[in-house]
Amino acid sequence: MMKQRSSFVCQQCSAEFPQWYGKCPNCDSWNSLVETVKENETTSRATKRFVSQTVPQKLSDVKHIEKNRLKCGLPEFDRVMGGGIVPGSVTLLAGDPGIGKSTLLLHVLSPIGGMYVSGEESGEQIKLRAKRMGIDGANIMVLAETVLEGILEALAKNPPQGIVIVDSIQTIASQELDGMAGSVGQIRYCAEELVAFAKSRGIPMLIIGHVTKEGEIAGPKVLEHMVDTVLYLEGERYADARILRTLKNRFGPVEEVGIFEMKENGLKEIDNPSEIFLQDRVKNVPGSVVTVIMEGTRPLLVEIQALVVSSQIPIPRRVANGFDYNRLQLLTAILQKRLGLPLGTSDVFVNVSGGLKLTEPAADLAVALAIISSYTNKAVDAKAVVFGELGLLGEIRRVGQEERRVKESKRLGFTIVITSVTAKNLQQLQKLLL
Ligand code: TYD
Ligand code: MG
Repeated sequence: MMKQRSSFVCQQCSAEFPQWYGKCPNCDSWNSLVETVKENETTSRATKRFVSQTVPQKLSDVKHIEKNRLKCGLPEFDRVMGGGIVPGSVTLLAGDPGIGKSTLLLHVLSPIGGMYVSGEESGEQIKLRAKRMGIDGANIMVLAETVLEGILEALAKNPPQGIVIVDSIQTIASQELDGMAGSVGQIRYCAEELVAFAKSRGIPMLIIGHVTKEGEIAGPKVLEHMVDTVLYLEGERYADARILRTLKNRFGPVEEVGIFEMKENGLKEIDNPSEIFLQDRVKNVPGSVVTVIMEGTRPLLVEIQALVVSSQIPIPRRVANGFDYNRLQLLTAILQKRLGLPLGTSDVFVNVSGGLKLTEPAADLAVALAIISSYTNKAVDAKAVVFGELGLLGEIRRVGQEERRVKESKRLGFTIVITSVTAKNLQQLQKLLL
């Protein structure tokens, strides 16, 4: 019988078993067993540490990374990365399937060059995408492989000049483990090996990871701790705007955001992102309000729409698209109490344009005003922008970066800017704009 190379280890109590159980026989936790490579004499941590080659170094002698950053020529991407890709760093790009991860990384790879390892698509499919994007690819090597050991061997034999893209971690499996590609054990082990390779050779690696609609998959979550940078590409699949965020960055700030548009020939950077979120706006219609949110350090103008109609059902509906459902409940309650709007018998629908998801309380005021505007059937001035947090007493509260928001609004031609400075409560706001 073949000697078993892997075992199943409980992530809660560290008990080890030769087979998988849904419930840990030791501590009774569910779904906690993860397939792990067994450590033997030659690979045990103790022996590894013993042969360690690293020596302490003066801080002043440590090479500064800034000079060596690789720029991909997409300023939005470079900025999000903190100024370019750091040699030997490992970046995870997560996002829903079909959002444009492969496209983005092909853009990044094309000016720098390197190896595109794909477990998802064949060389022909990658070529098709490259052609569509106008990339010739003379400096890009393609490797369609799903076995980790095969990938590492190919990379060792032909060390790529530039960067390595791994698309995606969920499709790669090691022969050391019996679990399927995409299982937590496989993802963790493969990532560990890839990270070790990147670090030891100083080759930057960008790894793609899928997340499901719920963002639930264990893969990228486990991965987050192993990599230097975690990027998240998001957007509505059927809208064009794509937002690239940093969730973690050991080599730069985490609040930077890159905004792109998915076009026929790949992702294009957007110089004036507010325009794409306002392009379909119908002016002077009740229920539409423009607000300014901060995406990282950048102010962004977006339109919020609300529709209030009398309800046909005992418990009226509240539907929020791009806005937190519970926050909407709260805002309707405030409007009911403070302005006496009879929303208890009305259905309220709220939508954020361009597929953006708003998490900032600064959008409160615009959502509230859009609801009032729709209910009273009076349109808000098309040249007005509002932002501010709404308190439970109906008071308007200050939000961060007010100056930048006001400046951006003025720059885009909005002449009326309502903030906590210009209106103190909902009554004043209503008087000013409706
Ligand atoms: P893709 O990068 O394959 O997504 P992911 O790797 O995240 O799964 O791209 C997904 C979608 O983008 C696909 O439906 C087609 C579309 N697309 C364009 O609209 N224009 C393009 O130039 C390319 C390459 C793709
Ligand atoms: Mg892909």
